[in-house]
Amino acid sequence: MISPKAFRQTAVLALWAAGIVLQAAQETIPINEVEEAVPPYTLPEVLTFCDGRRVESARDWTRRRAELLRLFEDHVYGRVPKGLPRAPGRVVETRRDALGGKAVRQRIQVPLTRGPRPVLMDLLVYRPASATGPVPVFLGLNFDGNHTVTVETDIPLARGWVANRPRSGVTNHVAAEASRGTDTAAWPIERILGRGYGLATAYYGDIEADFNGGWRHGLRGTVAGTGPGSRFAPEDWGAISAWSWGLSRALDQLARDPAIDAGKVAVIGHSRLGKTALWTGARDPRFALVIANESGEGGAALARRFFGETTLRINTSFPHWFNGRFKDYNHRVPDLPVDQHELVALVAPRPVYIASAEQDRWADPKGEYLSGWHAGPVYRLLGREGLPGPDLPALNRSVGDSVGYHVRTGAHALTGADWEFYLDFADRHLRRDSR
Ligand code: GCU
Repeated sequence: MISPKAFRQTAVLALWAAGIVLQAAQETIPINEVEEAVPPYTLPEVLTFCDGRRVESARDWTRRRAELLRLFEDHVYGRVPKGLPRAPGRVVETRRDALGGKAVRQRIQVPLTRGPRPVLMDLLVYRPASATGPVPVFLGLNFDGNHTVTVETDIPLARGWVANRPRSGVTNHVAAEASRGTDTAAWPIERILGRGYGLATAYYGDIEADFNGGWRHGLRGTVAGTGPGSRFAPEDWGAISAWSWGLSRALDQLARDPAIDAGKVAVIGHSRLGKTALWTGARDPRFALVIANESGEGGAALARRFFGETTLRINTSFPHWFNGRFKDYNHRVPDLPVDQHELVALVAPRPVYIASAEQDRWADPKGEYLSGWHAGPVYRLLGREGLPGPDLPALNRSVGDSVGYHVRTGAHALTGADWEFYLDFADRHLRRDSR
C-alpha cells in the first residue's frame, strides 16, 4: 500500500506537469458549441455487421452484440485482463439502526486483487429497514468517498488519493473531516429508501486514483505491476474499464445478500462515472437497468457530432480514462468502428436512461439524446420501444419507454430532480411484477 504522503507527492507532481502540458495543448483544440455549425456526419449502422451483413433477428443480434462489445473493448475502453479474482467481501459492519432506524447499513470490504495487500473497495450499502423481502438496489460509484454521500458521521474517511474539490474544502489529496456529507445532494438516500430501494455505493478512488499516472495507485497497477518495464498494450484497459470492473464486483457482493434482489440492480453514474455506468451496463448483462447522468463524451454523447467535448479533447485532458488505441482516432473520428448509440444499444433489451442538463453544453445534450434515439432499432428488434422521435423533448419532461431521457434545467450535476425521474423509471421497469 502506498503511503498517503507518496500519493500526495505523486498526484501533485503529476497534476502540475499535466496542467502545463494541457494548457498548451487545449488552446489549440477546436471546440464547437453552436448547433448550426455542427457538420453533417454518418453514424455506423448498429444493425449491420462489420462484413456488411444485416442483422435480421434477435439471434443475429446476439452475434452483432458480441462484435460491438469487442470493438468497444479494443478501440475505446480497453480489455480487462483475464483471471482477476472475484473473491467474497468481508462485512466489517452491520447496523440495524442507521438513519434514525430507517435503514440497515452495511460496510463491506471487497478485495479486487489477490495477495497479502489486495486493492480493497469499501462498499457502503443502505437498505430500507421496513422491507419485508429482497429489495431492488441502485448501485453507483461516488466521486469523493463514502463519507461524503451520507449525513451519518461514523463512516471512515476515504483512504488514499482524493480529488482536490473546492466544494469539499479539501486542500490536499487526502480526505478531510470537512468533506463529510458534502455530496448528499447527489445521493438522496432517505428518499431512495422511502421509495423501497436500497442504495449501494463505493468510492471510485478505492479502485483507481483518477489522474494520469493514477493507474500506479490501484487496480491496474497492482495487476500489471508498477516496475519500470510495466506498460499497457494499446487494447489494454483504461481507468473507466477498471472502475467498471469494480462495479461488477460490487454486484457479485450484493448478489450474496439474500436481503437484496440481485436481479433488480440498477447501475447509475454521473459524468465520468456516467460513462463508467454505461460501459458497465453494456459489459455486464446482470445489471437490470442502466442510468447515465450527463455522461457526455465517451458516455452517451455521439462522438461524430462535433459539439462540446471531442475525442481529441478528452484524450488530451484525460488520457488515462480510455485505452491506448482510442488515441488513434483523435484526428479521424469518422474512422472509429463504433459510435456511442451502439454502446446504448448494448444494454438492450434492458431499460436504459440517459439524462442531460440544459447548461451542460460540454456534454452535448442533443448528442446524448440522439444516441438513445439511434439505439432504437435494436430495442424495436427485441420487442421494446425506445425514444419517441429524433427531437430533444421539452425541458424537465421524461420521455421514452425502455430508453428513457430527460434534459433538466440547470447545470452539470446529479440532483434530487434527476433522482425523481430515475425512481419513477425504476418503478416502471423493476417493480412491474411486485405491484
Ligand atoms: C470533464 C470532462 C467530462 C467529464 C467531466 C466529469 O468535464 O471533460 O468528460 O464527464 O469532467 O466527469 O465531471
